[in-house]
Amino acid sequence: MKNLKGRTAIVTGGASGIGRACCVCLAREGVAVLVTDIDDAGSAETVAIIKKSGGKAISAHHDVTDETRWDEIMTLCESELGVPSVMVNNAGVAIGGAIMDFSLADWQKQMAINMDSVFLGTRAAMRAMKLKGGSIINLSSIAGLRGASGVSAYCASKGGVRLFSKAAAVECGQLGLPIRVNSVHPGIIDTPIWQKSIARMTETMSADQVAGLSGSSGGNSLNADVIAQAAPMGRPGRPEEVADLVVFLASDASSYISGQELVVDGAMTAR
Ligand SMILES: NC(=O)c1ccc[n+]([C@@H]2O[C@H](COP(=O)([O-])OP(=O)(O)OC[C@H]3O[C@@H](n4cnc5c(N)ncnc54)[C@H](O)[C@@H]3O)[C@@H](O)[C@H]2O)c1
Repeated sequence: MKNLKGRTAIVTGGASGIGRACCVCLAREGVAVLVTDIDDAGSAETVAIIKKSGGKAISAHHDVTDETRWDEIMTLCESELGVPSVMVNNAGVAIGGAIMDFSLADWQKQMAINMDSVFLGTRAAMRAMKLKGGSIINLSSIAGLRGASGVSAYCASKGGVRLFSKAAAVECGQLGLPIRVNSVHPGIIDTPIWQKSIARMTETMSADQVAGLSGSSGGNSLNADVIAQAAPMGRPGRPEEVADLVVFLASDASSYISGQELVVDGAMTAR
């Protein structure tokens, strides 16, 4: 990919799933990666995968909702790897539940992890990138494009990420900052997020409600029949298929793309 060699990236939620794939794929292009997550063992594993294939990476404990920690992460990145020119705001959770039974505490937790974090990460990246430029990539979802039963808070958080990213892109352009901002919208991607959220949903929702969610069979894993129906390509996506888009957006191959929502969903939203 064009001109990524020697650059520095921060990837939040880099211990698992799409975040890990982003770290590995960016490192393969010669990018030094700061892997951050609350899951220290998972982050260490991501770093080990990168180092094994000759790449450069370090990890740091980072709760993306912690404003003070963001300052420390940016300082660490600059001192250990250099000023970042790629920021991937990827960390996220899916807290499911029917609206009438949903608590304000869960709503606020969902917003803090999925949306406050994207504001904090984008602000930190803009401050760091304002002179030399960069690319900010925010993970939204197809749930940020349309509604789904039982995941209203998740939809709201991802819809917020979508429009915040557009606003940030316009603001960067109008301020004359050499920074692009885009949102990425995966469909059903085979990662641990499904087990985590479905397991939790089955505690709080009826089987019918859980079965209404895309990709969920009401059990603890992705259901092949449900996916085949939901995704015209007939299979879930692989984390690397999202990471390839992130690498493109990080690179100069996308130098005139900003403020856009890029969907990677096997044609789920095409009908
Ligand atoms: N997998 C999918 O089908 C899918 C679809 C659309 C969007 N997404 C989005 O992609 C992103 C990555 O999801 P994934 O599927 O790889 O999930 P995942 O559960 O495999 O990885 C998410 C990572 O975020 C980390 N995390 C959670 N809370 C955190 C916090 N407070 N601070 C720092 N890290 C935290 C977790 O520890 C985990 O390592 C999320 O934003 C998710 O909403 C995923």
